Amino acid sequence: MTTPPIRLGVNIDHVATLRNARGSAYPDPTRAALLAQDAGADGITAHLREDRRHIRDGDIEALMDALRVPLNFEMAATAEMQAIALRHRPHAVCLVPEKREERTTEGGLDVAGDESRLADFIAPLSDAGCRVSLFIGHDPRQIEAAVQVRAPVIELHTGRYCDLVAEGQAEEAALELAALMSGARLAHSAGLEVHAGHGLSFATVSPFAATPEIRELNIGHFLISEAVFMGLGPAITEMRRLMDAARA
Ligand code: PXP
Repeated sequence: MTTPPIRLGVNIDHVATLRNARGSAYPDPTRAALLAQDAGADGITAHLREDRRHIRDGDIEALMDALRVPLNFEMAATAEMQAIALRHRPHAVCLVPEKREERTTEGGLDVAGDESRLADFIAPLSDAGCRVSLFIGHDPRQIEAAVQVRAPVIELHTGRYCDLVAEGQAEEAALELAALMSGARLAHSAGLEVHAGHGLSFATVSPFAATPEIRELNIGHFLISEAVFMGLGPAITEMRRLMDAARA
């Protein structure tokens, strides 16, 4: 198989986290998104959470107006979010599980346990031209369910792998990575486009960028954190360099 280039989606949620921490108008997530676009991001990801803890409705509107690259709109599978997505019609909609008390998206969506509701939820989004992606773990049952509900894309949750690497649990990390790779192969062979993300950093991005079945990586918290030290543009440039090097 000829390997297509790997895309980088930059998640700008935590620019909004910083803004909201002081109730100020800065830093502006749209300004960060435009900078990311200029620095080589292939897309921008933003998660409008039910509690609006970072991205707000007005940010989605501003991003839709300002961006030249596609917006990947992350959201929970609720009626409120579906209505917002149908109003803006972003290029992509990534469905994620959402719990109010969590710090970040923990675990993947239970597609297998919610097949008929998700199939009905996805259909109008697809009809509106949004490419729907499901954020899931590597469990083959979830991957098969993604095919059943007619999602064209899945995003594999890399968070556990990144945590294991950070904790120095090399053996467990290797097992998790192998399971993610086999999930990527299964999904690709079932006709799904495969993305991956959560917790990725300079230290953990390479094996995913090197996997030909994976087309896109979505990375946020690490890039925004690294921006404090090296600037957002250089952090994105370095991530791109590592991804392209691993792909080659
Ligand atoms: N992909 C999905 C579906 C996510 O929910 C998140 C976190 O919002 C990310 C990627 C990016 O994760 P991180 O901010 O840890 O890079």
